[in-house]
Amino acid sequence: MIYRRLGRTDLNVSLLSLGTGGARRLGQATGMTLIDQQALVHHAIDLGVNLIDTAEQYGESESILGRCLRGIPRNQYFLSTKWAPRIGEAFVPDPAALQASVERSLKRLGTDYIDIMFFHGPRAAEYGAVVDQLYPVLDALRNAGKVRSVGLSTPFVYDPAQEVARIALTENPAMWDVVMLKYGILNQHAANHILTLADRYDVGVMNMAAVRIKLPDPVLLEALIREWKEGGLIARDALPDKNPLDWLIQGDVESVIEAGYRFAAEPPGIATVLTGTSSIEHLNANARCLENPKLISAHSSRLKALFGGIVEYA
Ligand SMILES: NC(=O)c1ccc[n+]([C@@H]2O[C@H](COP(=O)([O-])OP(=O)(O)OC[C@H]3O[C@@H](n4cnc5c(N)ncnc54)[C@H](OP(=O)(O)O)[C@@H]3O)[C@@H](O)[C@H]2O)c1
Repeated sequence: MIYRRLGRTDLNVSLLSLGTGGARRLGQATGMTLIDQQALVHHAIDLGVNLIDTAEQYGESESILGRCLRGIPRNQYFLSTKWAPRIGEAFVPDPAALQASVERSLKRLGTDYIDIMFFHGPRAAEYGAVVDQLYPVLDALRNAGKVRSVGLSTPFVYDPAQEVARIALTENPAMWDVVMLKYGILNQHAANHILTLADRYDVGVMNMAAVRIKLPDPVLLEALIREWKEGGLIARDALPDKNPLDWLIQGDVESVIEAGYRFAAEPPGIATVLTGTSSIEHLNANARCLENPKLISAHSSRLKALFGGIVEYA
């Protein structure tokens, strides 16, 4: 396992980290038993994964994770969790709710500190209220030792340009220890501004959902490429209609998914790439592929030329 420094947190984090959200939610979505979930988490740690991400919004993930980690010394892993300033779709910047959420997270996770506490997906228009009304709560929790560092994760589904992270690192770079963003083959735009700013201000970067839904599904991927051709985002003859990215499978790259995780880990400013897999076999494959976090350089360049200017949720 490769380890990279997570910006000014100085945490030395594994390049592959484990996510308990996404489509799988630590196997909650696929009916995994607690024994299977424990096996997945323990296997990740055995592989050298030392960072696990969760959120109050991921169903029972926090409490399941807490149970899976029981008995493992706390100094063997780092935990990140999140709180969304939202009730349903409505933005509700309630400091007391944030305070209560962190206390609940600590309890569910069975720990007395959270390594990285994120604001979960505030929109750009909400950023000012997050800073003025909510940030002081996490600052106080950091001073109390319950939170080690403070982060912002982007609402990439609603805002594929991830503008909120650009605003945060432009207006208040000293406030943010970590940003969680989405950077991948089909979502490169964030790199244009955010990675440059994060590097300038020594802000750690966690990369989420780099593969997600469309890259692992040939039917969805073909439909997306067709849509982008029809919309003029890529040239009609730029890629084949069938298996449009299979040319990435070459040398030691065994699948498009593997290419996706490698591409996601290429920028040195990305400290870790989350995988949301619920399969031990896939976890092994993802850990193996990030032992060499690079694509053939001509492939990487071609992906950047093809998709680098596209700002869409994919
Ligand atoms: N802050 C936020 O708003 C936010 C948003 C999204 C995600 N996240 C975090 O980022 C984590 C990762 O995101 P994610 O779960 O969407 O995405 P991901 O790791 O990009 O994709 C996971 C999907 O890819 C499949 N997959 C993974 N490795 C595979 C392999 N080797 N072969 C075949 N299929 C494979 C998984 O299925 P299998 O289970 O079958 O392997 C799953 O369906 C989340 O769990 C969460 O912690 C945060």
